[in-house]
Amino acid sequence: MCGIIGYIGKRNAVPVLLYGLQRLEYRGYDSAGISVIDKTGNKIIVEKQVGKIKDLQEHLWNKKIEGHIGVGHSRWATHGSPTIENAHPHTSQKGTISIVHNGIIENYLELKKELIEKGYRFRSETDTEVIAHLFEDFYTGDLLETALKVAKKLDGAYAVGVISTYEPDRIIAIKKGSPLIIGLGKDENFIASDIPAVLEYTKDFIALEDGEIALVTKDNVEIYNLEGKKLNKKPFHVTWDVSVAEKAGYKHFMQKEIHEQPRTIGDTITGFLSSKDEDLYRMIKDTDKLYIIACGTSYHAALVGKFWIEKFARIPVEVDYASEYRYRDRIIDKKTVVMGISQSGETADTRFALLDAKNEGAKTLSLVNVVGSSLSRETDFVLYTYCGPEIGVAATKTFTAQLVALLLFALEAGLGRKTITKDDYEKIHNELLHIPSKVEEILKKDDEIKDLAHRYMNASDFLFLGRNINYPIALEGALKLKEISYIHAEGYPAGEMKHGPIALIDEKLPVVCVIPNDRYYEKMFSNIQEVKARKGKVISVATEGDKQIENVSDEVIYIPETLDPLYPILTVIPLQQLSYHIATLLGKDVDQPRNLAKTVTVE
Ligand code: F6R
Repeated sequence: MCGIIGYIGKRNAVPVLLYGLQRLEYRGYDSAGISVIDKTGNKIIVEKQVGKIKDLQEHLWNKKIEGHIGVGHSRWATHGSPTIENAHPHTSQKGTISIVHNGIIENYLELKKELIEKGYRFRSETDTEVIAHLFEDFYTGDLLETALKVAKKLDGAYAVGVISTYEPDRIIAIKKGSPLIIGLGKDENFIASDIPAVLEYTKDFIALEDGEIALVTKDNVEIYNLEGKKLNKKPFHVTWDVSVAEKAGYKHFMQKEIHEQPRTIGDTITGFLSSKDEDLYRMIKDTDKLYIIACGTSYHAALVGKFWIEKFARIPVEVDYASEYRYRDRIIDKKTVVMGISQSGETADTRFALLDAKNEGAKTLSLVNVVGSSLSRETDFVLYTYCGPEIGVAATKTFTAQLVALLLFALEAGLGRKTITKDDYEKIHNELLHIPSKVEEILKKDDEIKDLAHRYMNASDFLFLGRNINYPIALEGALKLKEISYIHAEGYPAGEMKHGPIALIDEKLPVVCVIPNDRYYEKMFSNIQEVKARKGKVISVATEGDKQIENVSDEVIYIPETLDPLYPILTVIPLQQLSYHIATLLGKDVDQPRNLAKTVTVE
């Protein structure tokens, strides 16, 4: 899980590469490097640093490197620890070829052995270095032809960027399994793992498909398949503004993204309603089984979506972790639909599980945030959230947008299947339109939630409880807290607590209880009493006006009233704020928590 970038054009490549790497840092951040062909065209200058992009920047501060073509890389170690030797770019033995790579070369040991027998010396422990040596070994006098030969030797997933002093006027980009886009500029072009890396310079892109190779010069881009046949690919345009990928005065991206939710929820409602795909709902009319697969936070959105789809569209839904679904004996027939939810649209577990299901005859559908992402291209149908790029590693605004899209999908499907009345459909739609301002109200409680965070930041464990449609919110609250604060947290269905986890409760344990005024209120209230009776510290997320809850809670965060099924979109907001404040008060790096990456393109 790494980020790659490449530039060719009239500017000095160094700042362009560093800027792009900063935008890609969310993909991995244990070391970084760039290589640039100098102005003579005869020499590749390589600079690497362990740490974050800012460490590389500081390292380059006084170096005055210049060149108009280069590649860069931000690494998240898979093979070999984060050292300078293992950082990319990797350069061939003669120093004539330099490459960056995102992915895993599965047959690298075998290739390495062959290359060592031929006299190549390896300087790193990475799988990537074999690619640099293969390019040199196979070089035919034509970099594109060589790339076709190299690609045929490589097994695994990869997005590769290559520059060479043999042909200093071109970048070669190869894609199989890992994401790669080409940014189209005027007298300049770019390659990158993701759009925000080059959004400063262009809004026009080509998305490479697996098994495609791009030959990129400063004023031209040609795409070929692995047989060397030239392809005609249509560029696409994005409307995101560069400011969306910047912090806009907030301390962290996560904080900014939490506060953007009134807008991103509103944009997702509008975007969803204005892009209704009639074919999708025709297909859903006949469906008798829906699987939803996803990972992490997207998996929690799927769990909430199950309640809505079963309630409004009356389709049985099974939700699975993509990594589990892929390897189990699932039952698929012509009427089965498999939906993958992924904000990035690149998560390897979700992608490959969906591809397997498609091969077995299922219809596939994706819900993604990134236009042109792999999932959006590989599934039969696609739905979008309209959030703009999410930079903070912890998903926040994309989660609430996924919820909104799933609710709207369930309502549309229900209308088509006649399992919901027009009146109920409209009632929920109308209330949904008030959700952005209700989220706004919760966000105004930020200082109150920060004070609360102060009181509980030193706890070593947290328990999160919820029932029914708010149970996945308890899971999400626990995930948010553990991933950015490193405090152990568990989410549980409140009714299940008495079957085990109740043993954990004592006066030191904060228990976050999601208890809106819905039809499960009384049951949830009893569960809270069980916690209180064991001296647990109860932090309740309850509906405005619920005074009774104060009798059994140490703390209450109030949220505005809404319709029963819509509560999860509100109850999750204070949990995001709570995690954010606890983690920042503890001095943790919330945007780039340890060991994590924003886009997980390895299985
Ligand atoms: C948690 C988080 C991860 C992702 C997961 C799936 O805050 O961000 O758990 O939700 O890695 O990512 P996508 O949605 O891109 O498939």
